[in-house]
Amino acid sequence: MALRKDKTDRKVATSEITDYGVPHVAIIMDGNGRWAKKRGWPRLAGHRKGAEQIKKIVREAPDLGIRYMTIYAFSTENWKRSLIEVLGLMKMFRFMIRREADALAAEGVHLRFIGDRSRLDPALRETMDQIEDRTRGNTRLTLAVAINYGGRDELRRAAAQLAIDHASGKIGADELDDAALAARLDTAGMPDPDLVIRTSGETRISNFLSWQAAYAEYEFTETLWPDFTVEELTEILSRFGNRDRRYGGVKT
Ligand code: IPE
Ligand code: IPE
Ligand code: MG
Repeated sequence: MALRKDKTDRKVATSEITDYGVPHVAIIMDGNGRWAKKRGWPRLAGHRKGAEQIKKIVREAPDLGIRYMTIYAFSTENWKRSLIEVLGLMKMFRFMIRREADALAAEGVHLRFIGDRSRLDPALRETMDQIEDRTRGNTRLTLAVAINYGGRDELRRAAAQLAIDHASGKIGADELDDAALAARLDTAGMPDPDLVIRTSGETRISNFLSWQAAYAEYEFTETLWPDFTVEELTEILSRFGNRDRRYGGVKT
């Protein structure tokens, strides 16, 4: 029986790994505020609990066959929230990235960020750049965290870049195809998500991965993000196997 070391250096049989055949899972982690409100706590307490849940999910994801995870942490629309909440979230992102850097690096996670960084605090940006550089060679799991991310904003930036590259002669009119646009998205180099999960009972996509998730499967659960467990993720993944992905074709 084949053995490999897991992240705690425990020798595990590879038969303990269940690959559900869903390489890229994207998650709209919603419901932190309601989770806190139910307890009479400030919204930021919900965000903190939500961040702890991410750690648990990320740790187990590779053993479920997941190779890429994209998680929605802050949308281009989330700036509308109170200053206290926005600043609290930004502070938490920096704190979490710094605190988890060693563990993520040791667990073979390649951490990257999608979204427009230009509006983020320089200290947060520096922290993001550092962990991206540090974990670039890791292959066990690629974790893309969406901060100041909007699908429309990302498409607009990619289209603007294409226009610049065309005007400068870098790319010809006959080369303006899907691949050329995809290569200019923040997710360049990542496969499209197979499955998008949204927690908290809302059944909308809120500007998440508009281009990339065109043919993804969607799962909506009532569970608030801070209550979302590895067990529920496993249930969702096992249901996914029964879906018939036709991509516009006809099953023969
Ligand atoms: C999702 O939880 C996290 C972020 C958008 C940052 P919410 O903060 O949207 O929680 P609800 O939807 O208000 O419960
Ligand atoms: C989507 O959740 C964004 C994140 C999870 C980061 P929101 O709570 O911001 O979305 P809406 O407002 O319900 O559409
Ligand atoms: Mg919400």
